[in-house]
Amino acid sequence: MLELDDIQSGVLRPRPAPYVATYIALRIDEAKAGRELMRRVAAVVTSAAHPESPLSDTWVSVALTYQGLKALGVPQDSLDSFSWEFRQGMAARAKDLGDVGESDPQQWEKPLGTPDIHVIIVAVSPNATRLEEVLARARKTYQTMSGIEAIWRQDCHALPDEKEPFGFKDGISHPAIEGSGIPGTNPREQPLKAGEFIIGYADELGGIQRTVPEILGRNGTYVVFRKLHQRVAEFRKYLRTNSKSVAEEELLAAKMMGRWRSGAPLALCPFHDDPGLGADARRNNDFLFEADDPAGFKTPAGSHIRRTNPRDSSIAGFARIHRMIRRGTAYGPLLPERVLEDDGADRGLMFAFVGANIGRQFEFVQSEWINDSVFFGGGRDKDPIAGSNATDINFTVPRKPVRRRCVGIPQFVVTRGGEYCFMPGLRALRWLAELET
Ligand code: HEM
Repeated sequence: MLELDDIQSGVLRPRPAPYVATYIALRIDEAKAGRELMRRVAAVVTSAAHPESPLSDTWVSVALTYQGLKALGVPQDSLDSFSWEFRQGMAARAKDLGDVGESDPQQWEKPLGTPDIHVIIVAVSPNATRLEEVLARARKTYQTMSGIEAIWRQDCHALPDEKEPFGFKDGISHPAIEGSGIPGTNPREQPLKAGEFIIGYADELGGIQRTVPEILGRNGTYVVFRKLHQRVAEFRKYLRTNSKSVAEEELLAAKMMGRWRSGAPLALCPFHDDPGLGADARRNNDFLFEADDPAGFKTPAGSHIRRTNPRDSSIAGFARIHRMIRRGTAYGPLLPERVLEDDGADRGLMFAFVGANIGRQFEFVQSEWINDSVFFGGGRDKDPIAGSNATDINFTVPRKPVRRRCVGIPQFVVTRGGEYCFMPGLRALRWLAELET
């Protein structure tokens, strides 16, 4: 069984819907202050136990970067026991992630991607009043303390109907995790071994990750935060100029995503949207691909959801070892419907990955599945929604009698910054607070 009372709530609980959320980044200037911060936040962070509590949909999570662990004075042998990608940090991994050109770390919103980001606090709640209450408690942990500086903040809020800025319903598909007591959303997916998501447990390959000392990593996980700016006007214009009617526009959008805007999957309704299905959590993720649609006539292999989770599709490799928990939240104002001109506002997703293996989960999906298509025999095509654009983005819609090739798709998503973090268990937070090096 998972030790739910030691795992931070935000790791396992799907976020409330609707939601409001705030991300705050802190810099630790004195190790002693940083340790006191850990002691105080340990009292504010809730555990994943007691999901039935009425307060369980409001929580604060805390995560540290590698630089943050260093700033606390964590001994070198402990630091060395964390994963290589985490120790490098996201900016150093830019080329592998496709963060080039406009997404290059040189262009990122400061201080994202700099060694100053040490701690990230995330507060999530179903409404602004409760968010403010929980933020006030979180603020008390650092505001009056010298040696800790709040250096960045991002507010996020749900858009109408749980949609992300391009207009698709988000937050649908989640994996089931053995021992978590939280059901996944696809009844056809076997629950994944807990070690895929939580450090200290066996994973799908039979391995168990351990840190030095074991208590530091146990019940913790890695979290990847990415601020992804979305070019909504550009996306709409592309659909408009490449379609002859509104119905065709919507079909092209659905082919790119693998779902209609309502969330209804092409796998279950390939010809027209079905908002009832999109809204029905018991049915909207109940499908596989291979038996019914091996060639992608319904859901193209290159669509966003089939790439990022090929399920049982025939691909090179084994999809189950590249799964992830997503905790994305939207930021920025909605671009009013039908507007095709950019209004200059910053809007997009604070993408959050949760998993025990940054390399074979997040980085693999980003580099091999989103920015390449060799894994399903699709050459150098890229994800038409989230692909990064070192060159052109191309996408294929299988069709009879001839496939449709979309060539030179503009880049719709630009990385504004991000960081690799470690989200400790509650006992580990106290261990960090008691460091004496
Ligand atoms: C701004 C960029 C992005 C947008 C707008 C976006 C949007 C969406 C939407 C609308 C869905 C379908 C609804 C759902 O299942 O929750 C989805 C699913 C998913 N996305 Fe993204 N996404 C983005 C970036 C990413 C990135 C960078 C990754 C991974 C590195 C990713 C991984 C996934 C996964 C794993 C799923 C679930 C697939 C499934 O199980 O069916 N997404 N995304």
